[in-house]
Amino acid sequence: MKIAVMGASGLLGSAVCRECLARGHKLLAYANRSWEEPKKKYGVSSLPMEKFDPVMREFFDQWPDAVVNCAAISSPDMVDKNPDYARLINVEAARQLAEVSAHLGARHLQVSTDMVFDGTSSPYRSTDQTNPLSEYGLQKLEAEKQVLATTDINLVVLRITLLNGNSPRGDRSPHERILSALAKGEEPTLFTDEWRQTSSAENVAQLIVELIERPNLNGLFHWAGADTITRHELGRRILQRFGFKEERLGTSTLAQSQERVGDRPGKLTFELAPLVSKVKTQPATIDQQLEEMHLPLALYSWYRENVDDPTCYNPRF
Ligand SMILES: NC(=O)c1ccc[n+]([C@@H]2O[C@H](COP(=O)([O-])OP(=O)(O)OC[C@H]3O[C@@H](n4cnc5c(N)ncnc54)[C@H](OP(=O)(O)O)[C@@H]3O)[C@@H](O)[C@H]2O)c1
Repeated sequence: MKIAVMGASGLLGSAVCRECLARGHKLLAYANRSWEEPKKKYGVSSLPMEKFDPVMREFFDQWPDAVVNCAAISSPDMVDKNPDYARLINVEAARQLAEVSAHLGARHLQVSTDMVFDGTSSPYRSTDQTNPLSEYGLQKLEAEKQVLATTDINLVVLRITLLNGNSPRGDRSPHERILSALAKGEEPTLFTDEWRQTSSAENVAQLIVELIERPNLNGLFHWAGADTITRHELGRRILQRFGFKEERLGTSTLAQSQERVGDRPGKLTFELAPLVSKVKTQPATIDQQLEEMHLPLALYSWYRENVDDPTCYNPRF
């Protein structure tokens, strides 16, 4: 298949690109700006989505068989800083992209988030009542509704949870953020009452390409990892993997930090039925997710000089 991936320079989009190529598909990879690292690997083209005419022209020229939309203003803080711009990408462009796919007869997959829920009634099923607490969650929910309204065939909206993994810029996933904070001499503070059913970009990418290859699975689905863990425990396991002492991590609770972090869902976990029994891809365990984590290249010199126990992890690039 000829698969177009939007957001190809991001944490998830880059993993989807790798998976498309590994499964022998032809790849069209797009991002906002062009990035050296992914460009070398998958030929990422710059195709900003806020002005949609060039996107439409490109798609009518290329006529892909499938479109995976991983492009988003994906950080709730960035959405709060510029909600109108974020809406253009997270909602308007997402809808227009789904409309173009429907017009081309291309299979379409829109990525969404567990942040459409308020975290009070986990585990959530895809039919459960939504109640986003953030502007980011609101925009992603609106996108889901508009994308699902474009057509009822050849379309998937996939809600996913917090992602581990290795991003092309080495600054996006939990372990990359924690290690970057340590490198800056900071003490990352993580919450002991913020529960997430984390998955990995690699695992979700496998599922996404499987869903693209399976035209009989359509509609709104949930996907997550096999285990539930607090942000603090995840941070502790990350420090352990990379050979740092636990004392480097600060501990707090969401309940104590409401003023600083605003309303954030306490517990977000998913009911994975019915999807999990219909696909070959299986949810990744925390151990598998930790195993896939690598040191960002930019942190190598700092790491060599500062790691507490160098026998725990052997850097690979
Ligand atoms: N990461 C998570 O933990 C998580 C959890 C749940 C759901 N999700 C969802 O998963 C999807 C992928 O997230 P991610 O973490 O991989 O995101 P990410 O790493 O922040 O990547 C975002 C991608 O969107 C592109 N993009 C941003 N603005 C754009 C614009 N104006 N025009 C075209 N492309 C633009 C970026 O391109 P540039 O690099 O060129 O700016 C980048 O390729 C999103 O829908 C997100 O909501 C993520």
